[in-house]
Amino acid sequence: MSEFVIRKMTADDIPHVAAIEKELFTQPWSEQAFADELNNKSATILVAQAGGEIAGFADMREIMGECYINNIGVKALYRRKGIGRALMQALEDSATDEAEFITLEVRQSNEAAIRLYKSMGYIKVGTRRGFYEQPTEDADLMTKYLKRVVMK
Ligand SMILES: CC(C)(COP(=O)(O)OP(=O)(O)OC[C@H]1O[C@@H](n2cnc3c(N)ncnc32)[C@H](O)[C@@H]1OP(=O)(O)O)[C@@H](O)C(=O)NCCC(=O)NCCS
Repeated sequence: MSEFVIRKMTADDIPHVAAIEKELFTQPWSEQAFADELNNKSATILVAQAGGEIAGFADMREIMGECYINNIGVKALYRRKGIGRALMQALEDSATDEAEFITLEVRQSNEAAIRLYKSMGYIKVGTRRGFYEQPTEDADLMTKYLKRVVMK
């Protein structure tokens, strides 16, 4: 696998995306949750397609200038090939001109994801104690500012 395309998720992709979600996370979103998200006008859900297969996905919501990345996942077989970075960049590119920042939570033990986010300009802005379950763990709150925020 050397090539992939990033595109918007369609209803047909949902079973594949939900299967990746189930493989990667202990409290996965259901197919219904992804279907609801697809109908949510503030959400952008992208998939990475490698050949005939969905290799990864990422989901972001933008509300009143604030973007929040719900999740990103790449199947183990397809990692370290630039797919995670491409999904993150495509989410950022999808933000409107009004967007001031993108924020996300990440498990403090998740070195791979934290490295990815830092390399793309995200900085740690806080800690959410006990944010995750199964297993319980604190989250780093990481944010990338897209515009200079002027305090009035
Ligand atoms: C985090 C994740 C999405 C990265 O996806 P990916 O396609 O492998 O990422 P990329 O190939 O684009 O890597 C981009 C950069 O991230 C960092 N990175 C990614 N995986 C890494 C690892 N295992 N160890 C150290 N750094 C890593 C590196 O800086 C890498 O750049 P490099 O390959 O030039 O060194 C993937 O590991 C994943 O799906 N993990 C499980 C789900 C998850 O934890 N999601 C995040 C929830 S907050």
